[in-house]
Amino acid sequence: MHLKKVIKKDIENVLIKINPIKKYNPIIILNKKITMGHYQLNNLIKIATILDLEPYELSKIIIKNIKKKNIYKEITFSQPGFINIFINHDWLSIELENIFISSRLGINRIQPKNIVVDYSSPNIAKEMHIGHLRSTIIGDVIVRILYFLGHNVIRANHIGDWGTQFGMLIAYLEDIKSKIVFQDDSISLEKLEKFYCKAKKKYDSDQLFAEKSREYVVKLQNGDKYCHKIWKKLVSITMIENQKIYQRLNVTLKPDDTVGESFYNEMLPNIITDLKNKKIAIEKNGSTIVFLKEFKNRLGESMGVVIQKKDKGFLYSTTDIACLKYRYQKLHADRIIYYTDSRQHQHLIQAWIIAKKANYIPQNLLLEHHVFGMMLSKNKRPFKTRDGNTIKLSILLNEAIQRAVNLIKNKKPYLRKKKLIQLSEIIGISAVKYADLSKNRNTNYIFDWDKMLSFEGNTAPYIQYAYTRILSIIKKSSIPIIKLKEKVILKKESEINLAIKILEFEEIVLLIAKKGTPHIMCKYLYQLATYFSIFYESCSILFAKKIKICKSRLKLSLITAKTLKKGLNMLGIQIVTKM
Ligand code: ARG
Repeated sequence: MHLKKVIKKDIENVLIKINPIKKYNPIIILNKKITMGHYQLNNLIKIATILDLEPYELSKIIIKNIKKKNIYKEITFSQPGFINIFINHDWLSIELENIFISSRLGINRIQPKNIVVDYSSPNIAKEMHIGHLRSTIIGDVIVRILYFLGHNVIRANHIGDWGTQFGMLIAYLEDIKSKIVFQDDSISLEKLEKFYCKAKKKYDSDQLFAEKSREYVVKLQNGDKYCHKIWKKLVSITMIENQKIYQRLNVTLKPDDTVGESFYNEMLPNIITDLKNKKIAIEKNGSTIVFLKEFKNRLGESMGVVIQKKDKGFLYSTTDIACLKYRYQKLHADRIIYYTDSRQHQHLIQAWIIAKKANYIPQNLLLEHHVFGMMLSKNKRPFKTRDGNTIKLSILLNEAIQRAVNLIKNKKPYLRKKKLIQLSEIIGISAVKYADLSKNRNTNYIFDWDKMLSFEGNTAPYIQYAYTRILSIIKKSSIPIIKLKEKVILKKESEINLAIKILEFEEIVLLIAKKGTPHIMCKYLYQLATYFSIFYESCSILFAKKIKICKSRLKLSLITAKTLKKGLNMLGIQIVTKM
């Protein structure tokens, strides 16, 4: 139940009756202290001014005319201009019951839209590194949440699988007589990346080699069978390895979600002709360029976006224009969200503008670039290996698991090795993911092993532990769940606070679906776990005087656990049942 929205609407309805022409936008907040009401209208004074009324006078009208009285226990005015809203406990109990019995926690599906989420998108012939972490895991949270809400979500792994580097690689592999060329064998991605670096060096220093590489690019682009076969092998070696990373990260991307740059290659010649025909692109010194007045260069002139080079090669931009056309016309996208770092912002906006000018997509298509900051080390510099290289994701995850092993060994020295490894994999990888997801994606953040693996604060271990603690309370009670038939009885302040927090879940989910900000969920789960602790400390559950109260509190605990579990699941964080 999005209670804030309900209260807002109820108040708005009263205001509209007073004067239907004006806009009010009541601001409702969830109070920390119950003395001021569970919820509060914060901008009463401003609204009163619009209506030319005294705040107190207006509050009286609102209180008298508000509908859905069953939700509200009491509505009061407080100086200088607030309306305090106390929620009816019986109504809260009914809502909790809805959450208890529903696998969707009482959240309705919404009008489905076709939403493309463009995320992860690594480049071929290289191992995934920490630069891909944010896009991959934040994108995946949004996918999970949009899917949960009932949308038709299309995961798009827009891998960099096309371009001049492939000519270079094919030429190099041939040079070193690699088995992958001559014996249709496979090599590791690690080795492939090394070859890539060597090929690049050779390309820059050896003219003959460079020429051969360029020839191979043309051949590949023209569909030459030999080149195509090697290229396919390179893509496959990379993506098999990446798929392992997705699996370890508990990310939902599957091989079928990969639609790389190469896929759009066929469309590109027509796009160029069409843009020229529509007078959007012009030829200048042999290149095809779109001049955009929306962007100015240093001289104040319209900026040119090259879409075809002199040598007839296409560019990253050309692909993204074609990709937009495809996603709208073939996939019928209503909304497209890109998770790429902020350096690509201009590139994306340019592609969007050009696609709109060409009428490939409508003006009102929802296009969003959800940017994110960088991972920094403790000295606030980009997070790198000691010798200054980017950190491979596989290495980072291995370290996370090793650190989790040390942590758990300390806590539970007698745990069997197999169990220890199983648990450490979940705890270690969750910690890395959660540390990232819990930071506002718009900012850089400092990667800190000790903090993320701590059992205190807004961390994965804290939330995972809170969950297991509730499970153990429920287990200890030895009351079967089917015996929890009666509705929750809400009396103590900590019970009511917890209940209202549980109800806030829907609001959080809807907000993330709109803004693509998983940190809101982390903060919510942290608060929920904290509210549970307060409840647990102030209300005895297993030793409650009456069995009725014991059952009610068990049920409230169970609903809390259910909400934690669902929230963690949306974050792609695995739960454990014992810790
Ligand atoms: N492969 C690109 C990179 O590694 C990201 C692709 C983002 N998506 C897009 N449609 N351009 O930087």
